Amino acid sequence: MEIQFFLNDLPGNDFNQLFRSLEQFKRSAAIDPKGNTLPPYYVSGLPNSYYIRLFPRQSVHLFHSSYCLHWRSQVPEGLEGKREVYLNEENMYITNNTSPLVVKLFQEQFRKDFSLFLRLRHEELVFGGQMVLTFLGRKNEDVYSGDLNHLFGLLSESLQSLVVKGLVEKEKLSSFNLPAYGPSVGEVTTSVKESGVFDMASIKLFEQNWDPYDDSEGDDVLDSASSSVNAAKCIRSVMESLVTSHFGETILDMLFEDYTRRVANHLKKEKTKFNVIVLTLKKL
Ligand SMILES: C[S@@+](CC[C@H](N)C(=O)[O-])C[C@H]1O[C@@H](n2cnc3c(N)ncnc32)[C@H](O)[C@@H]1O
Repeated sequence: MEIQFFLNDLPGNDFNQLFRSLEQFKRSAAIDPKGNTLPPYYVSGLPNSYYIRLFPRQSVHLFHSSYCLHWRSQVPEGLEGKREVYLNEENMYITNNTSPLVVKLFQEQFRKDFSLFLRLRHEELVFGGQMVLTFLGRKNEDVYSGDLNHLFGLLSESLQSLVVKGLVEKEKLSSFNLPAYGPSVGEVTTSVKESGVFDMASIKLFEQNWDPYDDSEGDDVLDSASSSVNAAKCIRSVMESLVTSHFGETILDMLFEDYTRRVANHLKKEKTKFNVIVLTLKKL
């Protein structure tokens, strides 16, 4: 058997960095302590959005999407752009005081995007081809209680504090909404069933600590100061380009210093965890 991998990301991704890191992977993969040898494999880059067709029809055996599908194709339709009345003022995602209308816009964007993704990949898979999809979601059906609500809620609070200090315009914050949504297992299952073209072999939810270096189980944060620094750095690496393109880069350090303090206070009260959904699908 020979294997061809295509590594997909948006065109703005640093593919040079990716291919440089692959060199190290190849070296470590070549030394297998058990003496196993890998089949010949070939790796290519695939710079494009997964919300369009990426491959010829019926040409792919397996898709694996890792920590991506919580990103939408765009800010929920109806929330984007400049407007007279901002629907999700002061917040970038769903918080306790978000109106049902705004929640509906986030959910509709998820349904539209996820069904599009399923349709596109279905066309590209060979008959019997499979997908393993891993992405951030939420544990409860209650749309207000996910950990992403906390995570982005704290970042909204940090931005609000910069508005109070006169460092960010109120309008700028009001027009900032995230192209993201963390669905529940129920919402994902419904979308797969509605697509009618995949058999869902399994769906599971597991939890992962906000601090990527904390592998401990249980609900105690051992060191909220260092855990908050690690968690905030992780969020900064994901959010920096979105924040920069909307607010400019001058606020970045201040914003994430404030955010780190808020995450530390939050972790003192509760060890919030990412809820990660993993599902396997087989093309019908
Ligand atoms: C948290 S990273 C995950 C990276 C890697 N797959 C992993 O598991 O470590 C999420 C990635 O999704 C990419 N992404 C977001 N929307 C995308 C889209 N529509 N098409 C392709 N890639 C996308 C981002 O550019 C980012 O590199």
